[in-house]
Amino acid sequence: MEHMPEASRDRHSPFPPDAPTRADAKAMDARDPLAGARDQFRLPQGLIYLDGNSLGALPRRAPDRVFEVMRLQWGEDLIAGWTRHGWMDLPLRVGSKIGELVGAPDGTLVACDTTTLNLYKLLAAALAERPDRRTVVSERGNFPTDLYVAEGLFRTLGQGHRLKLADRAEDVVAAIDTDTAAVMLTQVDYRTGALHDMDAVTKAAHDKGALTIWDLAHSAGALPVDLAGTDADYAVGCGYKYLNGGPGAPAFLYVARRLQASFVPALQGWLGHARPFDFDPAYVPAEGIGRTIVSTPSVLSLAALEAGVDTLRSWRMADIRAKSEALTEIFRILIDPLAERLGLTRASPRDPALRGSQICYRHPEGYAIIQALVERRIVGDFRAPDILRFGFAPLYLRHVDAWDAAANLVDVIETRAYDDPRLRVRARVT
Ligand SMILES: Cc1ncc(COP(=O)(O)O)c(C=O)c1O
Repeated sequence: MEHMPEASRDRHSPFPPDAPTRADAKAMDARDPLAGARDQFRLPQGLIYLDGNSLGALPRRAPDRVFEVMRLQWGEDLIAGWTRHGWMDLPLRVGSKIGELVGAPDGTLVACDTTTLNLYKLLAAALAERPDRRTVVSERGNFPTDLYVAEGLFRTLGQGHRLKLADRAEDVVAAIDTDTAAVMLTQVDYRTGALHDMDAVTKAAHDKGALTIWDLAHSAGALPVDLAGTDADYAVGCGYKYLNGGPGAPAFLYVARRLQASFVPALQGWLGHARPFDFDPAYVPAEGIGRTIVSTPSVLSLAALEAGVDTLRSWRMADIRAKSEALTEIFRILIDPLAERLGLTRASPRDPALRGSQICYRHPEGYAIIQALVERRIVGDFRAPDILRFGFAPLYLRHVDAWDAAANLVDVIETRAYDDPRLRVRARVT
């Protein structure tokens, strides 16, 4: 199907006559306010990339930006670069720009380290804020690193802290009580795309005197988030997904202003010191968010991340969200009526307002189906045990891509193109 000329693809629709047509999808592209954004990314010809929720695409401006920092700043100015080019300020500068996307005022968000490390810092600080409480509420299906990091921290502290895990998202609020120090959740479920109501959960936590730690890995850059407006306490997020900062890009962390003066840094690094260049043997934490910084900024990676964030900032978040809903909805409307026949079960909520920028289905042959699609240059990913995950980054995907991906999914399953032992060999990264 992917090798067919456009005109015959329009005629050979695998969908019922009342389903949206490929021409409908192209008409939506013609009136898309974000249509121009695709040109700001370098995407391989003919590739439909549905994995921007795992590793975002390369912004066109990123290579030049990084090259400039390498050649002109590092190459010419060497150590003077720290002062001349404001390298030390990068975590705060890039953090402020990310803050605009997630409702974090200046001085409340920094770009640094990894999501996991930042979770460690925030959870440790939250436990220090609530010294008489011993539980952290989360979900059994939360991203594993969030749970691992909590268990590791509890073991190190040796004070009897424990995780209280809800089996379903709707059970989280009932699990919060007066022993809850913090509620630690990923806003958009990485597997199903289900979206937590940040306002409602934050309020429920605060009503019981608990703090909130939001993992925005699958939210930042994909949907409107208002950390300050929600009165969230702490948050982290990834730089390499919808922020398009590149593989292993620095992450970010947020601390509400009202919690900064009492923030106890578990990782007391020299660059979180009030005066690092005094080389004082006694640690004195910097004022404000600066104390969450640990080490020398990753200047090259922050330059790439800044290019990704700058690319995003030129577009309206409301348009990004509207398109994200439209893209996942085209896919759902096309697949849902055929799902039973194809052996697919939708894992994501039906209502687009209740899911992030991804749509997922379960199938016992999920891994091989994803590999068969990859061979057709339609790149989604697989999440064990059986989830086919399709992420729709609204800046560089077209409505017609959603249509073509759905048509190919149907074709791969109907023709059993996935039924090949070669496609069942698991790669290291799925
Ligand atoms: C929800 C969530 N949290 C955390 C992480 C891990 O982040 P890092 O590798 O930066 O520690 C991921 C990675 O995909 C994720 O999806």
